[in-house]
Amino acid sequence: MAIQWFPGHMNVTKKAITERMKDIDVVIELLDARLPGSSANPMLAELTGSRRKLKVLNKQDLADPVRTEAWLAWYNAQPETRAISLDASDTAPAQRLIKACRELAPNRGGMDKPLRVLICGIPNVGKSTLMNTLVGKKAAKTGDEAGVTRIEQRINLASDFYLFDTPGMLWPKITVERSGYHLAASGAVGRNAYDEEEVALELLRSLKGPYPDLLAARYKLDDASAIPGMHDDVLLELIGRKRGAVMSGGRVNLTKAAEIVLNDFRSSITGRITLETPEEFEVWWAEGQVLEAERQRKKAARLQKKKKGPATAAPADTSNETDDEE
Ligand code: G4P
Repeated sequence: MAIQWFPGHMNVTKKAITERMKDIDVVIELLDARLPGSSANPMLAELTGSRRKLKVLNKQDLADPVRTEAWLAWYNAQPETRAISLDASDTAPAQRLIKACRELAPNRGGMDKPLRVLICGIPNVGKSTLMNTLVGKKAAKTGDEAGVTRIEQRINLASDFYLFDTPGMLWPKITVERSGYHLAASGAVGRNAYDEEEVALELLRSLKGPYPDLLAARYKLDDASAIPGMHDDVLLELIGRKRGAVMSGGRVNLTKAAEIVLNDFRSSITGRITLETPEEFEVWWAEGQVLEAERQRKKAARLQKKKKGPATAAPADTSNETDDEE
């Protein structure tokens, strides 16, 4: 079953971003370098319109460097867009951000035309950590739960460079099924919104093709070349057995095995991994758009029935509907 997570109404954030956007020259979107496509919020693309964009692939230290390069090239090939990668070990990221933004908006600068930049990112991509580094003190709270609230703030990175933090929480919007699993695997989705075993199986599905050697090394599996062809259940069971997650009677504790796989991925003990390539994500995105259009069609039909009143209305089909944004 696909992950459904609708943690809050986006209307307030949407309005606030729209309002703020009027005075913004460049939008920085912070992405998780392990899942760049999935950690982008599609609503932001609607709100930013033709604004110039800087994609920051954060947590690059956890991601596969080859795939990070591929994502950077993919973003850099898009109009009015630049991309850089970053991680928290960079103690002075301001200069790189300023340089990239100035290149995007060379018409802005000087005290009478300061460059105004908005920074956005879904929870857990590392925005608080980056803001803290930029401010040079503990100004924003970081935490291990997705969604630590904070107030809007402006940082002057130079006398003519204003960086605004997103007003409100930019939650992920899951329209792509695999994105839901990747977000859950990364820790960006609330823990009670998914089943760990299901997410671990989907994570293994994404890992076994491109990273069999990492899996073999981490879990001491004998034959890495056999891993891509293994069924995900079989692989999870094998990992559980290798890691001693075995119950009385010899059966593998799959819940424990799933926890191990997820924790190892999150802490990058498995290795530097990126769960998706730009090409894969483009295909998933196109499929997700078809499903999203169907969802919207059903929703419109349901509203139409409601308008007609109870006498004529048939019971609504709400199986695939949510009111997360509207
Ligand atoms: P958010 O504001 O976008 O919600 O994210 P936040 O900065 O709170 O970061 C979420 C987690 O990601 C934190 O770890 C933070 O330390 C970690 N993180 C942020 N940037 C990077 C990075 O570039 N590389 C790596 N490896 N990790 C990064 P945590 O364990 O949840 O909290 P804590 O133990 O650091 O307090």
